[in-house]
Amino acid sequence: MKKKTLVLIGLKLIVLILFLVVMISCKDSITDDVVTETTEDSAVAEISDDLDTEVVVSEEIAAAELDSCINCHNSTTLIFAREVQWENSLHGSGLTFERNGADCATCHTSEGFTERITAGTFEISEDIQNPSPINCLTCHNIHDTYTSSDWALTSSDPVTFELTGDTYDLGNSNLCANCHQPRPADIPQEGGGDYEITSTRFGPHHGPQSSMIAGVGGYGEEYTGSDIHYDNVDSGCITCHMTDTAYGKQAGGHTMNITYEYHGETEEYLTGCIACHEDIESFDRNGLQTEIEEMLEEVHVLLVAQGLIDGESGSGITGTFTSEQAGALWNYKTVEEDRSMGVHNPGFAKFLLKTALEALQ
Ligand code: HEC
Ligand code: HEC
Ligand code: HEC
Ligand code: HEC
Ligand code: HEC
Ligand code: HEC
Repeated sequence: MKKKTLVLIGLKLIVLILFLVVMISCKDSITDDVVTETTEDSAVAEISDDLDTEVVVSEEIAAAELDSCINCHNSTTLIFAREVQWENSLHGSGLTFERNGADCATCHTSEGFTERITAGTFEISEDIQNPSPINCLTCHNIHDTYTSSDWALTSSDPVTFELTGDTYDLGNSNLCANCHQPRPADIPQEGGGDYEITSTRFGPHHGPQSSMIAGVGGYGEEYTGSDIHYDNVDSGCITCHMTDTAYGKQAGGHTMNITYEYHGETEEYLTGCIACHEDIESFDRNGLQTEIEEMLEEVHVLLVAQGLIDGESGSGITGTFTSEQAGALWNYKTVEEDRSMGVHNPGFAKFLLKTALEALQ
């Protein structure tokens, strides 16, 4: 793997240098100067001291005709525009790719995700030693065939949730659901007796957005209401967060941001909503977010009163509780960690909080 990468970098350099030679000498073609030949080990590529003499280029690169590079590396801003957006996204600017342990690197590092998707399992063999953040190569097959088809996504297969075994299948946003799903945990069961909470961070790990949209992964009875946005938004996350027209580097496109700071205010990016909600003025459509916020507060008060959450620090408290109490905390954390204040799945968010309130009363 490492060897192949090194060789590829070498090969890329050769190709670029050849371009320069051609430009400097203004020759009609580079074939006069270059003998393209396959060596036994195509990994061997040498560049001689004098570029006018023989150069050995691997079959792989020779086959990927130079004009294919130009599909992407050209005088347009095809790549640059996305780079600028990506740099301003949390994927590009966040610090959590330091989470390089095998348990975490599958979602927090580019290398871990690539290994996991290639192997088709949730596990990777070891920690990632030189981690990099989620980048173009994490999500696209860049420099695989060296043609435009390399924009294809590294995965768009339906995703089976690790937590519940349910399937998420909403077009290209399946890619996102690989990472933006809760990690496996023991969800409290109704009437399950005593439940031991052993971590102050009890609850679904950060990012249960896809399971929330699909309406699964909560404590309590099975939810049978509607999953409005799962049923209606064909490209899921992408439709709302990744509109093809980005707003500068603040929102949409490869920033994937749906809110941004402007003149000291937090602004909402409504472009993705308008296709379906023509007159929408805020995410708080029909007061949904206000209602969810009020319900969260009601549940919070009870969780503090019953000793599951520290009222001052806001963090969880370890100890033995009833499965109803632990279940209420699970649902509260699910809605909180989803971070859309109900928008991802209005009906399910209300259901989770209603179930939590009933469990605590
Ligand atoms: C499908 C589009 C695409 C094609 C085709 C393509 N590249 Fe790239 N290339 C990229 C992207 C995307 C990056 C990474 C940009 C970034 O990291 O911001 C990149 C990066 C590079 C870099 C910078 C070093 C690196 O590896 O990050 C070089 C050099 C390069 N490409 C050379 C080539 C050559 C030579 C070819 C043809 C043999 C080629 N590319 C074909 C998309 C493409
Ligand atoms: C390889 C795993 C992975 C994939 C694939 C992925 N994400 Fe993320 N995403 C993360 C992680 C990890 C973070 C947090 C990064 C940090 O804090 O350093 C994040 C952050 C985000 C944020 C920023 C949240 C904030 O607080 O501002 C949004 C929005 C987001 N992702 C949306 C998406 C969308 C949409 C897709 C699919 C197009 C996607 N992600 C694909 C792992 C992933
Ligand atoms: C299944 C994928 C996945 C795994 C595995 C995973 N994470 Fe995350 N993590 C995410 C996503 C996605 C986010 C961003 C969620 C968001 O912005 O709402 C995130 C966010 C975080 C954050 C930032 C939260 C914040 O509030 O700032 C930390 C810290 C973190 N993860 C630590 C870890 C650690 C430590 C591990 C391993 C024990 C781990 N993660 C394993 C997907 C994962
Ligand atoms: C978190 C995953 C993710 C990352 C990181 C990412 N992309 Fe993408 N990209 C996507 C998705 C998903 C789409 C398709 C959106 C759609 O379905 O409309 C896409 C589409 C594109 C397209 C349009 C391709 C086409 O066939 O029309 C280009 C160009 C592109 N990305 C370039 C980049 C570049 C350059 C980078 C690095 C700076 C990058 N992407 C990083 C997920 C990602
Ligand atoms: C129907 C539109 C819609 C869909 C579909 C959608 N989101 Fe969101 N998402 C939102 C809105 C609106 C918010 C922000 C609410 C707020 O800040 O008040 C949000 C918030 C978030 C956040 C919190 C950080 C932030 O930017 O505010 C993350 C992370 C996120 N969504 C990821 C995803 C992922 C991953 C998917 C797909 C599995 C997805 N979303 C699907 C509309 C959507
Ligand atoms: C592909 C279509 C589609 C997109 C895109 C979409 N929605 Fe929806 N949304 C629906 C449908 C259908 C309903 C249910 C019918 C209704 O309330 O109009 C709904 C319902 C809602 C509700 C529930 C309102 C209530 O009365 O309880 C909220 C809130 C909402 N959407 C917010 C958003 C936001 C914010 C965005 C953009 C970030 C968005 N939607 C994007 C289709 C969409």
